[in-house]
Amino acid sequence: MKTVLITGGAGFIGSNYVRYALQTHDDWRVVVYDKLTYAGNLDNLRDVAEAYKDRYIFVRGDIADREAVVGAVRAHDVGTIINFAADTHVDRSLMEPGSFIMTDVYGTYVLLEVARELKLERYHQVSTDEVYGQVLTGRSTEEDKLHTRSPYSASKAGGDLMCMAYYTSFGVPVTITRGSNNIGPYQYPEKAVPLFVTNAIDDIPLPLYGDGRQQRDYQFVLDHCEGIDVVVEKGQLGEVYNVGSGTETANIDMTHAILDLLGKPYSLIQPVTDRPGHDRRYALDTSKVRQLGWSNRHSFEQAIEQTVRWYVDNAWWWRKLKTGEYLAYYKRQYAGREVKE
Ligand code: NAD
Ligand code: TYD
Repeated sequence: MKTVLITGGAGFIGSNYVRYALQTHDDWRVVVYDKLTYAGNLDNLRDVAEAYKDRYIFVRGDIADREAVVGAVRAHDVGTIINFAADTHVDRSLMEPGSFIMTDVYGTYVLLEVARELKLERYHQVSTDEVYGQVLTGRSTEEDKLHTRSPYSASKAGGDLMCMAYYTSFGVPVTITRGSNNIGPYQYPEKAVPLFVTNAIDDIPLPLYGDGRQQRDYQFVLDHCEGIDVVVEKGQLGEVYNVGSGTETANIDMTHAILDLLGKPYSLIQPVTDRPGHDRRYALDTSKVRQLGWSNRHSFEQAIEQTVRWYVDNAWWWRKLKTGEYLAYYKRQYAGREVKE
């Protein structure tokens, strides 16, 4: 048996990866290590805790707390860390950048220190295409310079650079994946797709930033999980791998697709003032990870269809999240931002 510590495993992508890893690797024991911030949610792992009682353990903790990380690694004889833990929402990073730096930069440093001190077999960092900054034309390759523009992407880039420093200076066996925007089950409804789907179900306006012509590579979360897994299994140490579908969609087209699937009118779209420093387009060159044998299984149309269906079928999961702290955030983020056409 091999024991893998999955930090941030109670979040959106982490929980999808935990489920995928336990299904795929019979010889893995998974320890989820998660602080359970507003974005962490044990409901995301409810079925996993039930189905894998013998191979799944949950530990609540902060990745920036070195003693607690060492304690979890020692107690469970962990050999590999896969780090999903991060503060992840760009709009929140514009309001309060401090926690992004604490988790995404300092927390990554703490995990790397533990990997070094306890001589772990492997450390994998889950990163983002946002570290390349906006690319108006062409596609970002792994060799491209990092041109971050938001506190979120700057913090993620800091984490990536620290990983490379620990590989180069101390020989920590590191790999990094840089994924494009994920969509699918269990995404906290502050991100554009689950926000728009759940608002549309309830006939609440969809706040579309600026002209809606910004482009993202919206990939299905399971495709991303498979990409991460391929890199953990076959990636070369010290290397970065982009993971994305390779197809970009404008936000206005993503929004129309959601409304069409739900049979709701386009009049629900509410143009709002643009996000400051809004990156116009991300696009990845994914040939390197494809050489490891990975390819995405879902087109944008399939991904958005499965995503919308999941939120329609799982109101139990998201309805209770859209209360309390969420509503306070929503008001702070969107109140008075409407633009009259
Ligand atoms: P998420 O916000 O849904 O979940 C983050 C998880 O990390 C939560 O469970 C939270 O409780 C936990 N966490 C936060 N701070 C922590 C800390 N200090 N210690 C321990 N746990 C902590 O995020 P996500 O969308 O699932 O993203 C996961 C990873 O993938 C992140 O590193 C993110 O940068 C990266 N990524 C996300 C996307 C995307 O589209 N969502 C795309 C590419 C890369
Ligand atoms: P988001 O899901 O926040 O991901 P990211 O900014 O990390 O790519 O946003 C996806 C796109 O949708 C992005 O171009 C910003 C836009 N957007 C809106 O138009 N309205 C919204 O309310 C949100 C949250 C995002």
